[in-house]
Amino acid sequence: MNFSVNEELCVLCGLCAQDCFYGIIELDEYPGIIDEDRCFKCQHCLAVCPTGAISILGNSPEDSTPLKGKFPAEDSMATLIKGRRSVRKYKPDPVEPERIQKLLDTAWHAPTGVNSRSVHITLMDDPESVQKFKDEVYERLEEAMAENPPEIPSVANLFKMICKRMKEEGHDILFCGAPHFLLVSAPESAPSRTADMTIFLSYFELMAQTMKIGTLWNGLLRRVIESILPDLQDRLGIPADHELGYAMLFGNPAVKYQRTIERGSALVRRVEWK
Ligand SMILES: Cc1cc2nc3c(=O)[nH]c(=O)nc-3n(C[C@H](O)[C@H](O)[C@H](O)COP(=O)(O)O)c2cc1C
Repeated sequence: MNFSVNEELCVLCGLCAQDCFYGIIELDEYPGIIDEDRCFKCQHCLAVCPTGAISILGNSPEDSTPLKGKFPAEDSMATLIKGRRSVRKYKPDPVEPERIQKLLDTAWHAPTGVNSRSVHITLMDDPESVQKFKDEVYERLEEAMAENPPEIPSVANLFKMICKRMKEEGHDILFCGAPHFLLVSAPESAPSRTADMTIFLSYFELMAQTMKIGTLWNGLLRRVIESILPDLQDRLGIPADHELGYAMLFGNPAVKYQRTIERGSALVRRVEWK
């Protein structure tokens, strides 16, 4: 676990022990983990320590960002959430690899059930690969719609329309000209996997907005990979025992939104218990 306490800094306040979910930190002379097997690696002990005395899992307080005064103000956060838009038009130029990495690494800090952190990210960031993948998807999708269309007529009609618009107008509904996309999946054994994958992409999307990178949740592409051309899952290297979460396009937006939209008050059904 690599848990260590800087004895010169530790003031024996006990906050690390109090905040430990499994209660496996005890203050003997100084704090120590009494049952390493139960530690689920959340690093709360490092985060809560007021004097920066605790290091764990190879992480020390010096590697962290002090939080005081660093969170976005609530109005800034509200504007981010209300100003985030689905981007359906992208510039062809790619996002720099180091910015993609920063985006992924930040979203990687999203919470996961029992801190399992078992979301797998399948990233296609090379625009040439995206182009080839896209060409194959459209070609095979058209064949599939002719030979073996989905049973639900509205779904079949939707995908036929998508192929037609690409063929006749070059209108790319599936990929929107995005130079990059990612898919998330998780082992079927992972607890909370569906929530974990969605939360990861939600964080990815919000962080992307702050970096002026556009994103699009892509249910259409997910459906293609999951049920219309399922061999793609294997060819993309997504293990067979994984649940496919969602697909998300991203890239430099070719559309600029000028203002938030308003969706009114949240629909809430408030209950009381007596
Ligand atoms: C789970 C999910 C799947 C979506 N799938 C698609 C999609 O396949 N294609 C698309 O153009 N938009 C897709 N969207 C975008 C929604 O249509 C969009 O969020 C909605 O119209 C509201 O617009 P906004 O995101 O700009 O607020 C999806 C959104 C979500 C949350």
